[in-house]
Amino acid sequence: MKFFIDTANVDEIREANEMGVLAGVTTNPSLIAKEGRDYKTVLKEITGIVDGAISGEVKATTTDAEGMIKEGREIAAIHKNMVVKIPMTAEGLKAIHALDADGIKTNCTLVFTANQALLAARAGATYVSPFLGRLDDISEPGYKLIEEISAMFKNYDDIDTQIICASIRNPLQVEQCALAGADIATIPFKVIKQMIHHPLTDEGIVKFQNDYRAVFGD
Ligand code: E4P
Repeated sequence: MKFFIDTANVDEIREANEMGVLAGVTTNPSLIAKEGRDYKTVLKEITGIVDGAISGEVKATTTDAEGMIKEGREIAAIHKNMVVKIPMTAEGLKAIHALDADGIKTNCTLVFTANQALLAARAGATYVSPFLGRLDDISEPGYKLIEEISAMFKNYDDIDTQIICASIRNPLQVEQCALAGADIATIPFKVIKQMIHHPLTDEGIVKFQNDYRAVFGD
C-alpha cells in the first residue's frame, strides 16, 4: 500500500515529502477552504512539491456533469500529475466517463458502498475513495468496506481502478487498510506522525543516548 497525504497545507506536504514516504496528495473543498488560499494557486504549488498523483476536487457547488467536465479539464491543465476528484453521483459518473475518454485521471470520492465503487470503476475512474473513517464514526466498520471493494475488484481482470482509503483518523485504520488490500491510504499529517512513534522506540532512543553519553560524552 502506498501513502498519500490528505491535506492542502503545503508546509505539512513538504515535511512529509522529505521523509520520502509520499506517492501523492489528496485535497477536498473543506481542506482547501481551511487554508484560506486561492484554489488553483495551492494545487499548482503542491505539484511543485510532490512528484505523484495530486487530487483536486471540482467545486462543491458544481453538481451537473457539464460543469464538472469543464472544471475537470481546467484542473487537469494545471499539471500532468493532477487527478480530478468527483463526487459519487449520477452526474459525477457522467463526468468521470467523459474525462476518462479525454485521457484525464479521476478520483471518485464520497464512496460508502462496494456498489458505488464498482459503478465508478466501470465509468472509468482511475481511483475510488471509500471513506472508512466516516463509517467508523457511525459505528459501521469501515475496513469491511475496503475488504469488499478489494475482493470485488480482484474478481475482474479488466478493472484497474485503484482503491484510496480516505477519511483516516488514526494509525490503526491505516493498518486495517493495508491488510484489507487497499492500493493507497490518504492520511492526515497528524496520523503520519503518530505512525512513526512507539513508546518503546522513544524510550529505547533515550536509553541508547544515556548509555553512550555515560562512557563517551556528547
Ligand atoms: C480525501 O480524499 C477525503 O476527502 C478525506 O479523507 C475526507 O476526510 P474526513 O472524513 O476527515 O473529512
